[in-house]
Amino acid sequence: MKTTIQHIGNYKGEKVRIGGWIANKRSSGKIAFLQLRDGTGYIQGVIVKSEVDEKLFQTAKNLPQESAVYVEGTVQEDERSPSGYELQVSSLEVIHESTDYPITPKEHGTEFLMDHRHLWIRSKKQHAILRIRNEIINATYEFFRKEGFIKVDPPILTGSSAEGTTNLFHTKYFDEDAYLSQSGQLYMEAAAMAFNRVFSFGPTFRAEKSKTRRHLIEFWMIEPEMAFVDHNESLVIQEQYVTHVVQSVLEKCQLELKALGRNTSILEKIQAPFPRITYDKAVEMLQKEGHEITWGEDFGAPHETAIAEKFDKPVFITHYPLEIKAFYMKPDPDRENVALCADLIAPEGYGEIIGGSQRIDDLELMKQRYKEHNLSEEAYRWYLELRQYGSVPHSGFGLGLERTVAWIAGVEHVRETIPFPRLLNRLYP
Ligand code: 4AD
Ligand code: MG
Repeated sequence: MKTTIQHIGNYKGEKVRIGGWIANKRSSGKIAFLQLRDGTGYIQGVIVKSEVDEKLFQTAKNLPQESAVYVEGTVQEDERSPSGYELQVSSLEVIHESTDYPITPKEHGTEFLMDHRHLWIRSKKQHAILRIRNEIINATYEFFRKEGFIKVDPPILTGSSAEGTTNLFHTKYFDEDAYLSQSGQLYMEAAAMAFNRVFSFGPTFRAEKSKTRRHLIEFWMIEPEMAFVDHNESLVIQEQYVTHVVQSVLEKCQLELKALGRNTSILEKIQAPFPRITYDKAVEMLQKEGHEITWGEDFGAPHETAIAEKFDKPVFITHYPLEIKAFYMKPDPDRENVALCADLIAPEGYGEIIGGSQRIDDLELMKQRYKEHNLSEEAYRWYLELRQYGSVPHSGFGLGLERTVAWIAGVEHVRETIPFPRLLNRLYP
């Protein structure tokens, strides 16, 4: 029976055929062990010299790493194996013999691995991280579908910027100027007026000159937008969404979390509700601890980490000063110099994973913001019109997928959380 390693448990005691690659091997004079991977999992193939013909045994012993093979064998339960099974190999067909695979079980430097990213993603750790990424995506679709959201796809090529003009990627659009999307939000606001509750999931681009463990040039964002939902109601959706994602990974990715050595008891505590503190309070806390920060300044990574350390769940920092936030955020009616907004800061120093806010719904105030921020009435006319035809209170947020993967998988740097990272100095492979 032809199958894949993930389904091998359905064939206990039976003979199966699997296509895979040799991840590793070891052998003695009498027995050879092949670490097989087929992309869906890992299994150990056991070849006993006395039970197979001599040629098969020699082939197995000499197969270079990453050679591609078809293997046939009998599935046997094995408690010591992470998958719970091993394969008693009876035949081995070499599809392609690999030579000098560059990523060996020894340690390699980061730049070397990044140059070989197209191969590195085959390795156990990278494989586990990207499977967790996949589960987060699945859990995202599941959550928003259950909550009645419609997925709407905003454009990637845009004629205007959503998050300020300093880090825009510029390109020509025939005779016009165009930019790669920094965020689909503005279009998602239009979509929310059409469909009530919507979300997007797509690539976003920021020409940021930041070389930190949290910054990518191209990253993927999940952006829900909700009509008739205020700032506080949005926070409730956010904490429920993040809880669902974490609990889904815990449930579905036990093997991957184990392969990464992730402390899962920390993740088990991630249950809504999450703590909330105001920006004012956060500044006060930081000042008390001797951080150099004054009211009105934005937080840097060390500030976020210091705040996150006080909690064992993600923490919302709310009501930032208007002047350090985007033009579209609604001012707090009780305090006009702060916004109805929140950033969600992950525990363990992984930084901001969500930025969100209630949006300005008043036409005159939005017009005033256009003037203050030098936004072209021409390029943003459509966005203004959303405040002209049945404007309602609405809120939304953006969750950065790679930072969320880094946090849940317990990975130091976001470059390992996306298959082919785009970084300040890297466009290859
Ligand atoms: O806080 P940001 O800039 O918010 C927005 O773009 C809003 N328009 C979203 C919305 O309300 N619809 O970005 C949102 C999230 C951040 O919290 C972070 O997780 C991630 O996107 N992010 C990055 N991730 C990796 N590399 C970068 N350069 C990132 N910049 C932002
Ligand atoms: Mg932000």
